[in-house]
Amino acid sequence: MTFPAVRMRRMRRDAFSRALMRETVLTPADLILPVFVREGQGVREPVPSMPGVERVSIDELLRVGEQALSLGIPALAPFPVPDASTKSEDAAEAYNPDGLMQRAIRAMKQSLPELGLICDVALDPYTTHGQDGLIDAAGYVMNEPTVEVLVKQALAQAEAGADFVAPSDMMDGRIGTIRDALEAAGHIHTRILAYAAKYASSFYGPFRDAVGSAASLGGGGKHTYQMDVANSDEALREVELDLAEGADAVMVKPGMPYLDIVRRVKDAFGAPTFVYQVSGEYAMLRAAFANGWLDERACVLESLVAMKRAGADAILTYFALDAARWLREAD
Ligand code: PBG
Repeated sequence: MTFPAVRMRRMRRDAFSRALMRETVLTPADLILPVFVREGQGVREPVPSMPGVERVSIDELLRVGEQALSLGIPALAPFPVPDASTKSEDAAEAYNPDGLMQRAIRAMKQSLPELGLICDVALDPYTTHGQDGLIDAAGYVMNEPTVEVLVKQALAQAEAGADFVAPSDMMDGRIGTIRDALEAAGHIHTRILAYAAKYASSFYGPFRDAVGSAASLGGGGKHTYQMDVANSDEALREVELDLAEGADAVMVKPGMPYLDIVRRVKDAFGAPTFVYQVSGEYAMLRAAFANGWLDERACVLESLVAMKRAGADAILTYFALDAARWLREAD
């Protein structure tokens, strides 16, 4: 044979034919921006382990929301950083109708009703010990007592105007219980994004710095409720249960190290599948950019296209604003 039977490089030769055969196209409409919200007025406080990310007060959150909308980003995922004085053993602040999160939701929905709000349901910002639920004397996170509080939290968020409630706690049975409570309260349009396959990952470190749960957590891990990083079949069982209990969309978390899970989940269920490029992934990339070791724009967009190619319908990423800007420039 004097020539290759198939020349794969023909289609790659020119930009036009590369464009014609491109399978995955990333757009700003695929992105969800996570934001950290704190008390105060005019506050933008940098998060040291997440360069470029800030904790913002509610008035500044509105600016961020306007920016996201103008760039074509459909939704924000606010995470509260409540004052330490509001933390307690029973996490009652989680469902305070006048708590930080509920006020943030109301303010956003009043000013920017068309911007989707995906609200985290878990108790870690509100507990003195930093766990996602209520603990017994041995420090074990109790399932049913935690679910009871999660239901109150989800209802408080729905009441304030949350479009999505997003339980990220990994308790058993919480999706069904929250769904029943929402229906009973007349919140039939409130969507549930279940953090269905959430791993006990070490890539959440910078997030815990950002919301101030790291110090409370001490050396305590979350291995009795979040999934073992070594497992894959278990993720399918979690997703199956959450969908059966009434989830509208499911999440795989973290992102880039877990794209095999994204693909399996999407193939098995064909449900709306979201992925979270978590704080540690963000921090790693930022550190490499700061050192001049990786090209920022190219690597951010590559990481996001890879997630969509793996089957993700939407991506939570701290790079959302930059990525949306770059995608628009490229148009
Ligand atoms: C808390 C929660 C965490 C993240 C989102 N919701 C941290 C954790 O489970 O400890 C992590 C997000 C990130 O690392 O960017 N329920």
